[in-house]
Amino acid sequence: MVIRLYDSVVLQPEFLSNDILPQLNAEPEPIHIVSRSPFEPQEFRFGVADLHPDYGLNDELVREIAPAIPVSVLNTHAMASTTRRFVAAFPGDVMFAVKCNPDPIFLQAMYDNGVRRFDVASLYEIALLRDLLPEARLYFMHPVKAPEAIAEAYYRHHVRAFVLDTDDELDKILQATNYADDLELFVRIAVPKGNVATDFSTKFGAKPDTAAALIARTGAHAAKLGVSFHVGTQCVDAQVYVNAIAYAAAVIADSSATVEVLDIGGGFPTVLCDDTPPPAVETYMALIHTALATHGFDGMEILCEAGRGLVADAGSLVVRVEGRKGDLLYINDGTYGGLFEAGGAIGLPYPARLVRRDPLRLGDGTAAFRLAGPTCDSVDMMNGPFMLPDDVQAGDWIVLDKLGAYGEVSRTNFNGFGAVHKAIIE
Ligand SMILES: Cc1ncc(COP(=O)(O)O)c(C=O)c1O
Repeated sequence: MVIRLYDSVVLQPEFLSNDILPQLNAEPEPIHIVSRSPFEPQEFRFGVADLHPDYGLNDELVREIAPAIPVSVLNTHAMASTTRRFVAAFPGDVMFAVKCNPDPIFLQAMYDNGVRRFDVASLYEIALLRDLLPEARLYFMHPVKAPEAIAEAYYRHHVRAFVLDTDDELDKILQATNYADDLELFVRIAVPKGNVATDFSTKFGAKPDTAAALIARTGAHAAKLGVSFHVGTQCVDAQVYVNAIAYAAAVIADSSATVEVLDIGGGFPTVLCDDTPPPAVETYMALIHTALATHGFDGMEILCEAGRGLVADAGSLVVRVEGRKGDLLYINDGTYGGLFEAGGAIGLPYPARLVRRDPLRLGDGTAAFRLAGPTCDSVDMMNGPFMLPDDVQAGDWIVLDKLGAYGEVSRTNFNGFGAVHKAIIE
């Protein structure tokens, strides 16, 4: 396979205009002009044979492309197999949380591999799904919505399922839909914090003092009543779901309402560079299944809103090292680009692999590195630690894995560093 990003075009003198010709020597040399800037994004299509056995594009291909801007790699095969495994193991119906990767290639592959319900949080996501997958069932699962968004979702896009966590939001939904009698309403409850990367019950979810009463009141207005929670993202302890299901059961019992659907949210993790990797998805599902049965939920409709657990494994990113100061590597992507969750308070330690520019160069030993993004902002830093060969140097590339969720979707053009190539593995 031959891929050249910066082939030069050779213009022969006979093609040059009369303005230029007199400036040339009697025996003019061909003039070389660059046909394509190395910073101009391109889309590539590769096959599984172009992948490294661990993850991402193989080293020869990275050297061949020699990218000067990051390359986001979407592996539709990995996505399909993870999705099939997840759908087979989950004791209910799986929703995909569109926010974590709304790339149409992924959405279509998700649908083709058995996911027919989608958790959408904005009108943009609703319109995207309606256009791409008109038969999909949409759930508007943002707990605080604009009234216009509710009305447009209901009347234009025929969305019937909405979530809420306050009396005010219930009133808003009822008014925006003219007190419709066909609403599927979910009350999102805050659940006790577990071992997660980000707790999702600080910002959203009805607290213990209001949850049961809100469920009861919502039940009086809903054609179908549901309860939902989210344990927090990258939940590496399956027991957290068991505790949350027990808590939900207690709140529902307290409400005395007839709840028909329990939505246990997202949070399912991917394997990062943690000392203790999370258990397999089947272990989570077995514990969840038992907890549902224990609390009398087995006859009920069960949903989840999985994001990371479905798509993280299917994305990787190739970045280039532009400079090095000791253990700090200056790379051409960062927290304002495809690496938002590697920085700040979340600081996910993504698996990293070095691709040396010179394949004959040898390294000795592995070291822990920090990464600095390309923007001028000092918070554009990623502490990892990222384990790489000690000899890493400017001009080498790093392949980062597990970026199929919350990677590309967060990219901005801050400081003008938004350009990215896209490589689709099909
Ligand atoms: C309401 C809701 N559901 C589901 C998800 C997906 O979570 P995860 O990617 O942890 O599975 C999110 C993530 O932000 C969310 O806000």
